[in-house]
Amino acid sequence: MSIFKFGVVMLAGAVAVSGAVIAESMSDNIVHATYTEDGAVNAPVDFRRWIFVGSPLTPNALNDGSAPFPEFHNVYVEPSAFNHFERTGEWPDGTQIAKELVMVRESDSCDEATGACLEVSGNGYFQGEFVGLELTVKDTERYAEEPGGWAYFSFGHDGEPYAKTASAFPTESCNACHEGNADTDFVFTQFYPILRAADPNNN
Ligand code: HEC
Repeated sequence: MSIFKFGVVMLAGAVAVSGAVIAESMSDNIVHATYTEDGAVNAPVDFRRWIFVGSPLTPNALNDGSAPFPEFHNVYVEPSAFNHFERTGEWPDGTQIAKELVMVRESDSCDEATGACLEVSGNGYFQGEFVGLELTVKDTERYAEEPGGWAYFSFGHDGEPYAKTASAFPTESCNACHEGNADTDFVFTQFYPILRAADPNNN
């Protein structure tokens, strides 16, 4: 191949690649969850690399000694859905949001009554071990019968390894509380400063 022809081929290749990148960002390709043959969702793999949006905490000491979820709730949004939300303020079909539960750290420096620990930065709550994983998926076709098209899953609440697949909970177990109380299309953006900052409706 002559140098000229080689150059043309390379140039054509570069145009095709950049064209594909532009087309992808324009069409806003959303990365969907994957499913088993019987319709269970596969646990997300790389969710700790998704966009971290917040970490609410409802410790036992503030909930009569036994909170339903006494751990930190670390919430991560799948990046393509985050990008779409940042552009439009809306959650697209295919949105995946993971919530990993992380124990409050326990050590000799922690107070039995409050669970708070005295560490070098002060007295308070620090993250301990991973203990559970939940996921919500918006898919108005696959979950047409769920309000808002949102389905809710748990991969276990006993620490790692988490379950590899999960079936959707009944509507009343999860969806109903989200529908009634969450600020933005079943998502609790009121507790996630990173999503409030990203929402174009707030800017
Ligand atoms: C009583 C109300 C209530 C119920 C019932 C409930 N949730 Fe939530 N959920 C919340 C709140 C409040 C948040 C905000 C973060 C936090 O405090 O954990 C949340 C956040 C989440 C998130 C992070 C994304 C988001 O929408 O904000 C997931 C995932 C989730 N819940 C899964 C579930 C699953 C699975 C169930 C059913 C087993 C469930 N939830 C039941 C109140 C509820």
